[in-house]
Order: sequence, then C-alpha cells, then structure tokens
Amino acid sequence: MALIYMRDLLQHAYRNGYAVGAFDLVSLDFLQAIMDAADSCDSPVILSLAESHFDYFDFELIMPAVEAAAMRARVPVAIHLDHGASLASAQTAIRLGCNGVMVDNSSAPLAENISRTREIVTMAHACDIPVEGELGYVAGVEGEDAERHPGEVVYTSVEEASDYVERTGVDFLAVSIGTVHGRLQGEPQLDFDRLGQINAALRLPLVIHGGTGLGDDQFRRLIANGVAKINYYTALSDAAGSRIAANQQQGARGYTGLVENVQHEIRTEVARCMQLWGCAGRAEEVAADCRPWQNVEHLIFYNLTCSDWDAAQLIAEGERVLATIPGVRKIFAGKTVDESDRFHYCWRVKFASPAVIDTYREHPVHVKYADTWFRPNAGDRVTIDFAPAISVSREASGQPASKAS
Ligand code: 13P
Repeated sequence: MALIYMRDLLQHAYRNGYAVGAFDLVSLDFLQAIMDAADSCDSPVILSLAESHFDYFDFELIMPAVEAAAMRARVPVAIHLDHGASLASAQTAIRLGCNGVMVDNSSAPLAENISRTREIVTMAHACDIPVEGELGYVAGVEGEDAERHPGEVVYTSVEEASDYVERTGVDFLAVSIGTVHGRLQGEPQLDFDRLGQINAALRLPLVIHGGTGLGDDQFRRLIANGVAKINYYTALSDAAGSRIAANQQQGARGYTGLVENVQHEIRTEVARCMQLWGCAGRAEEVAADCRPWQNVEHLIFYNLTCSDWDAAQLIAEGERVLATIPGVRKIFAGKTVDESDRFHYCWRVKFASPAVIDTYREHPVHVKYADTWFRPNAGDRVTIDFAPAISVSREASGQPASKAS
C-alpha cells in the first residue's frame, strides 16, 4: 500500500466520518513506533514533520528514513510538512519526499495569510500536492506547557472561512475553535457550534491542531463535525519522556538503557488514538479508494556537438538551475562509461509526481535552459518519462514481481 495521495486519504476520511492522525515525529523511535501502531491497528497514517522541531533533527537526514518506512508499509501512508515557515520550506519538503504541505501563515493579517497561502497552493498544486491552510490562530508550542506560550487564541471566523478557501484554493483547513498546542491543565472548552457552521459552509476536510489533552467525547464531536485530520504530538513526547525518567529511576545508564521501551509507550498512545478516531481497521478500504503516490523518472539520453569544456558548463548550469524547479527531487547528470554506446550523456531527473512532467516542461527556468543551453547542442536525443513498472504495494504485499528481461 505504502504512499498514497493525501488529498484522497482525507477526502475518504471526511466522507466516511473518521479522522486520520498526523503524528509529529522527532526521531527514529517516534517513526518506528508510529508505523508499528499503524500496522497493528490496520490504519492509514500521516507521518508529520514540523518545522518548529527542526532544531532537534536534520530534516534532510531523517526524510530518507521516513520515506523508506512509508514505502515498506503494509498500510496507506502520507508524509506531511507541518507548520512550514515559508514557500521555500514547502518546496524543500516536496523535494525531500513530503506529499502534503502546510505553511503556517495564521499569525499574519488576513490579506497576507491569503496571498502567501495562495502562492504555496500554486506551487504545490503544480506538483499535485495538497495544501493545508490555517485561519484563526491556535496558540502554544508543541511539546511545551501551554501556559508558557499564552498567545491569544483567535477563533476561526465562519464568514471569513469560505472566502479564505475560495481565494487560496487550500485543500484542507485547520480551524481554531479553542484547542492550543502543547500541554494543558484540564480540558479546553471547544466551540462546536462554530465548527459545525464552518463545516456546513465549506464541506471540505477540516484539521485540528493541538490534539493533546482533548477528551474522548471531544474527539468524537470534532469528527462528527467534519474534522478529518488530527495533529498530535505533546502526548507522545510526554509518554516518551516519562519512560526515560522511569528508566533512569530504575538505574538505567547510557543512551540505549534510558530509551528502552520508549517506542512501546509511543506506540500504545498512537494506537489508542487510532482506535478512538475511527481510522483503525480502515487500511484496506483506504487503499482501494486512494491513488498510490508515485515518483516519476524523467530520462534524457543525448549526444553533444560542443567541446568537452562547453559540455561541462552546460551540465553544471543544468544541475544548478533545474534543481530549483518545484517538484524536482533529484538530478543525476551522467556520462557513458563505454564510449561506443549509442548515447554519451544522460539526465535522470526525479519528479515528485506525474503532474510535474508538464509543469517542469513549461516552467520558465526549464524553457530558458533548454532553449539557450541544451537544445542548440543536443539535437540527437531521446526523452522518456517512467513511473514504477511494479507498484510498491504489490512488492510489499509479497505478490510476485515480473522477471527482469
Ligand atoms: P499537540 O502537541 O498539542 O498534540 O499539537 C500537535 C500539533 O498541533 C502539531 O501541529
């Protein structure tokens, strides 16, 4: 099953009255525990990486592990950038493998929130990647005491919500109805009337930030009123922290001793959420309803008529500029090992999705490079786009792969 389109996933959740957990992860312990819980609950899951946590891990280093965990999973998975800081953050996240993005412009004035979010949507939709916007302001910081960050909660306005969605084109809306990020004293008061009105006006998957500390009944009412994605972190962090403290009290010393059973604690809490939010047991129906997310390999085999020195300039310039196009994940510029081969050079450009084939071709950076550098020197060439011949889900499910010829 592995990676699927996040838009399909949340539409399925919204239509069928359950919510998918977007669990922020900060280490391999979190990643493994979240995936184990999803596997044991037979649940779809969103692996979420919050830019506010980038001080604790290297985004570029952790993403290959996140992607590998998603690709080998038996259950449907999406990978999401949470609380991105800028358009550049969203583009980087897509390059590293996220297939859903949120850039948090909610503390900006409304007009600015709309214009900045619109920019994100234009870039991400060109890669077929959905965008979560936030209107109103959910105060607090994930993983910290809510009281330490007492910023004013700004409730999402029902009147502004429709206009915001229409003008930005976001696929999901994070709403502020009384939750706060981080550790709470007691249960917050939630404005369910407001949520019901927003849901009736928008009819699109809604998102709740600050899931930690809400009661079971509050979760049920959120989901009954259109919430299809719940962001969750502090409770997982606290479960891990308590385990480490208990290990120390019991005499554990050294890193591996201190983190022993941390995964078990996180897994238990994630599994509890999956059961409560109604996503447990849904892996199969979600996989049947959601398109698999597939990268594309854009291959060009070519010969050059220019000198070797000019060829080196042409390739270096291509590597530099083509990597800036949204949806380009990786570029390999190759030179044949065997001089007698039909073609002497190749480009292998990895695209985030099939949609990038068109947007890349038409992107001004590509057009300029192709017209001024590449085409005048590489008349002899073949270009082919490849999607995976065998879907990852078939490999993961153990069905036989076709033999290589
Ligand atoms: P909590 O840390 O309060 O669970 O909130 C997580 C969150 O909203 C991440 O975006």
